[in-house]
Amino acid sequence: MKNIISNTVKLFTVVILFSFIFNMLSANTLKIYSERQPFLIDALIEAYEKNSGTKVEWIFAEKGLVQKIILEKDNPIGDVFLSSDIARLIDVSEAGASVKLPKLSGIPDHLQNSDWVALTQRARIIYIAKNTNIININYEDLASDDFKGRVCTRSGFHPYNISLFASLLHHHGEAWLKNYLTNLKKNLARKPQGNDRDQVKAIAAGVCDFSLGNHYYYFNMLDNEDQKVWLDKVVPIFPNQDTQGAHVNISGVSIINKATKAESLNFLLFLVSEEAQTIYASDNNEFPASPSVSSSPKVEKLVGGAKFDIIDLFILADNRKTVVSILNEINFDE
Ligand SMILES: [Fe+2]
Repeated sequence: MKNIISNTVKLFTVVILFSFIFNMLSANTLKIYSERQPFLIDALIEAYEKNSGTKVEWIFAEKGLVQKIILEKDNPIGDVFLSSDIARLIDVSEAGASVKLPKLSGIPDHLQNSDWVALTQRARIIYIAKNTNIININYEDLASDDFKGRVCTRSGFHPYNISLFASLLHHHGEAWLKNYLTNLKKNLARKPQGNDRDQVKAIAAGVCDFSLGNHYYYFNMLDNEDQKVWLDKVVPIFPNQDTQGAHVNISGVSIINKATKAESLNFLLFLVSEEAQTIYASDNNEFPASPSVSSSPKVEKLVGGAKFDIIDLFILADNRKTVVSILNEINFDE
C-alpha cells in the first residue's frame, strides 16, 4: 500500500513537473500568423530568437488568416498577426480581435494606432517594356485607348491592387473608378493571373507592355538567376510624379492574444527597433517605417527621389468595399 501511494506521488510529481516545463516552453514560444513567407524575414526572426530567448513559431498562409483570427478571437491560438496590407489589419481591429497597443516611439503617428503598427512601406509601381521608351506614366494612363491589349496584372481583387484602386477612388470618385476599371479590363492582354513577377515575365515574353507590381519585386527578380533576364527588357517606373505620386501601402503587425501581450509587445518593440528596421531595409528592400532608418542605397537609387501619395491609410481601408463591389460588378478577373 505504502508503495502504491509513493508511486502515485511520484507520478503526480512527474506530471506536474512536465506540465510546468510545458507551460514554461509555451510561454516562451510566440506564434506568428503571417501573410508573409518566413524566408522574407528569416534574419529578423533569428536575431529576435537570439536576443530574447523566445522561440518564434511561424504559421504562414496567403489567404484566410483574418477569418481564422476572428473565429479564434475568444480563444486565440496565434499571438501576433503580421500582414502585408493595411486593410487586413483594420479588419482584425474592427472585429475586436486585436489587443490595444501603447504608442510605440520611433514610428510616426500616421503609421500606427492603438490596434496596429506599420513595419514597412512599399510602393506599387508600373513595370514597362523598355522598347516603348516611356519614362513617365500615370496609373490613369493604363485605361486609355492607346494601351489596348498591352496591360498585364494579377487579380484585381488582390489586396495590393484593391489598395491602389482605393487610392484612385479617393482621388477621382466612384463613377470615374468604375469607368477606369472597365477600360482597364478592356486593355488587358490576358485575364488577370499569377503574381506581380509573372507580369514582368509576360512583358519580357512580349505578351504585354505594362504591368502593376510592388517595387521590391524588382530586387527579388534581380537576385534570381532565372528572373533577372526579364529585367533586360523591362524598366520599373514610379508613376504619377506630376500628380499625387506613387501609391504606397504598408506591411504591419497586430497583437491578437491578450494572455501573451507582454511577450508579443517585446517582439513588436524589436520589429520597430533600429536593428530590425535596418534588416528590413537591407534584406527586404522595403522602406522602413522608422524615419531614423534609411532605405538601402540600392532602393534609394531605384526610387531616385520619387514622390509618394501620402493618402491616409484609413481612407484606403474605407474605400476597399466600394472597389470590391465595382470589381465584382464588372467581373474584372473574367
Ligand atoms: Fe508582396
